[in-house]
Amino acid sequence: MERNILTGDRPTGKLHIGHYVGSLKLRKKLQDEGAYDNFYVMIADVQALTDNWDNPEKIRQNIIEVALDYLSIGLDPNKITFFIQSQVKGLFELTCYYLDVVTLARLHRNPTVKSELKMRNFEESIPMGFLTYPVSQAADITGFDATIVPAGEDQEPMIEQTREIVRSINNLYGETLYEPKTMLPENEVCKRLPGTDGNAKMSKSLGNCIYLSDDSETVRKKVMSMYTDPDHIRIEDPGKIEGNIVFTYLDAFSEDSDFEKYLPEYKNLDELKAAYQHGGVGDVKIKKFLYQILEEELAPIRERRHYYEERIPEVFDILRKGTEEANKKCNEVVKRLEENMKINYFEDKELINAQTMKYTPNGD
Ligand code: TRP
Repeated sequence: MERNILTGDRPTGKLHIGHYVGSLKLRKKLQDEGAYDNFYVMIADVQALTDNWDNPEKIRQNIIEVALDYLSIGLDPNKITFFIQSQVKGLFELTCYYLDVVTLARLHRNPTVKSELKMRNFEESIPMGFLTYPVSQAADITGFDATIVPAGEDQEPMIEQTREIVRSINNLYGETLYEPKTMLPENEVCKRLPGTDGNAKMSKSLGNCIYLSDDSETVRKKVMSMYTDPDHIRIEDPGKIEGNIVFTYLDAFSEDSDFEKYLPEYKNLDELKAAYQHGGVGDVKIKKFLYQILEEELAPIRERRHYYEERIPEVFDILRKGTEEANKKCNEVVKRLEENMKINYFEDKELINAQTMKYTPNGD
């Protein structure tokens, strides 16, 4: 069995630091460790269209943005196959077969779909493409024999749905597909980084994101206006840590070595937290500290992005080549499934012979 990794993102906008700590950083780590046979990263335009069907131009414009974000964090096209979902036609075939083993009731029970349906207010008029996107996602994963999916925590219901489809298919047609597992970051706060305003979700529509592509001054402004503790008015007042987003971000981004470099009065985050709670540490000070840490992480990302921004045709070429390779792999899986389902009629000599015999009069 191959050790394959697959993950992807919807091209609905630029990627932000929530994506970065929640999944991108882990992808980079997996890439650098190199303990895999194939590593696929997909730009999920088909899935993005399930709730943007009226605005394909938005998806079209954001394909390159997501690709640039991938390259900017150091994902390497020599080690990873990048591809665009809609251009791998085998995925549609797999989706179609999988739809036969999934019920409407089961889709309605998917917690992520449930909350998205509520959020979008579809009520009874749910577009079928939207409702069934978990099935298409099962195709994305199994179409590459992926067993490892580094993705956000919110993706777990999709992976569970995928495992169920794998079991159904294998029960019906014999061992054909592999069950995947989600891989999450170890650090708890990284699984769901809140927005800069304190909202639990970092999202473009809420305007509370720090993007990987933000310039230094934009990052500084966003950090300086971050939500802290509204009751921490004077420096000498005791401050709260819970719900204080600057500390949440420090939990996600800071390391002991950052203190030595930028804030030597404190040895580590625990010491800084204790001092803040006690009183005497100003918000500006912790924000400046966070900004320095973020800058150290984001500056090289920004620089690499600029490099690729000047080479857009090269980036499309990376996607084209990756998509070709992805097609090869996915077609293999489609072929395997059709063989096991015995719907590979033209290659099935036994079937052709048996049908011939059936219509051959006895003794002739
Ligand atoms: N659902 C993912 C998201 O919302 C994107 C995605 C599509 C994906 N297919 C996938 C992620 C397969 C992991 C594996 O961003």
